[in-house]
Amino acid sequence: MCYSIPGRVVDIDGRTIIIDYFGEQRRAVNEIKNLRIGDYIYAQGGYVIDAVPAGEAEEVLALWKELFFELQERDQSLSGFTRPSGQTGDRLSRLLERIATGGAEVPEEDLLYFLNLEDEADIAALMQAANHLRHKHLGNSCCIHGILEFSNYCSQACGYCGISAHNKGANRYRMMPEEVVEAACRAINKYGFKALVLQSGEDPAYSIDDLCRIVSGIREREPALIFISCGEVGLNGLQRLYEAGARGLLMRFETGNPRLYEQLHPGRSLDSRLEHLRAAFDMGYLLITGGLIGLPGQTREDVLNDILLTRSLRAEMYSFGPFIPHPGTPLAGAHSPSALEIIKTLSVARIADARDAKIVITTSFETLAEDARRRGLSAGANSVMISLTPDTLRRDYTLYPDRAHSNESLEYQISDVLDLLSDLGRAPTDIGISHADSQLT
Ligand code: 5AD
Repeated sequence: MCYSIPGRVVDIDGRTIIIDYFGEQRRAVNEIKNLRIGDYIYAQGGYVIDAVPAGEAEEVLALWKELFFELQERDQSLSGFTRPSGQTGDRLSRLLERIATGGAEVPEEDLLYFLNLEDEADIAALMQAANHLRHKHLGNSCCIHGILEFSNYCSQACGYCGISAHNKGANRYRMMPEEVVEAACRAINKYGFKALVLQSGEDPAYSIDDLCRIVSGIREREPALIFISCGEVGLNGLQRLYEAGARGLLMRFETGNPRLYEQLHPGRSLDSRLEHLRAAFDMGYLLITGGLIGLPGQTREDVLNDILLTRSLRAEMYSFGPFIPHPGTPLAGAHSPSALEIIKTLSVARIADARDAKIVITTSFETLAEDARRRGLSAGANSVMISLTPDTLRRDYTLYPDRAHSNESLEYQISDVLDLLSDLGRAPTDIGISHADSQLT
């Protein structure tokens, strides 16, 4: 669980510790030596980031206490479940009621039935049940990860991607390793981010040594959970990056349909992608994975299988967003899915993995629909990402056209997210207290 308000250690069993937050207990992996029961720590994404001196922790907790309960109450009032009536069908009411009140695993045929809903009132009822489950099992905590897109060069030719080798018109940029370390450390110490994703195309200009130096350069200066997201770096590369201090991998499998995968990723195979993900998990990485929704030729069965595949990979976080056609790619003439397809996917992911999943609102969904964050967070999702890429470069990270937040300053993005979370009663528990406190009260 990703509270980054300080928690108190209440149990230690080898690398696994139990942390208490205002009476709620969470489990996390600890690598800090000599940690003892009663100590205070910051944890993020199920991982202990840093120990906090008791005096400092108690001061922060005193600031948080009132606000924390206030937010919880607001979330509670927005997350009730009422059995759908009116134009909604009997099967839907029965299923949703069982899901909202019971704990049994939901059969695949019911999950597919949810993905096939078309009526807006039915989809609203599905969202409500998924949001209720999020609240019931995971409370009001919302992860905020920062993502630094440090290079848009890419050697791959993925059929949908605007920074792939297909797009001859892209303005390419790459940051120097020292610039990446500098920008990441600033995000941590100036803006209070605790979890960072370092993303790039598959850019051969950075060797594994370079990437390792970036990761260790950040970890030596600042405590943070670092996710790497630089495509397929090889199993040896993954191992070396873990040793350098990376603890998360953001890598979508894009589609779990092997035929579609191979059509869209020339020279690559789904098996190799999944091998990377599984090996990374075994090494100890936290995984963020998922896929694209609305690819030409993709069916709703495929989307369901992708949700189940994400679950079977034991992902820490689900990342599903719409395919948006880019004019510089072979799929230029294809169409995006509707926002409702994305909402249904987020809700079904929540229902399929009710207790544990973090589910992120992707920037692609925000590009497709203006109110994507609010709708997604009200449909079972509990995570957002903020782009830390320098303003002058961000607009060139053109995975798809007109990417949301391309022209917003980091300060604006942070305050916008915090306002929304406050409105929804969610605790922005991955960003430092100084901002959370000053913006939310
Ligand atoms: N539409 C939506 N998402 C895209 N991505 C790449 N191209 C597109 C597109 N046209 C996503 C991929 C990749 C992530 C970095 O960006 O899923 O994993």
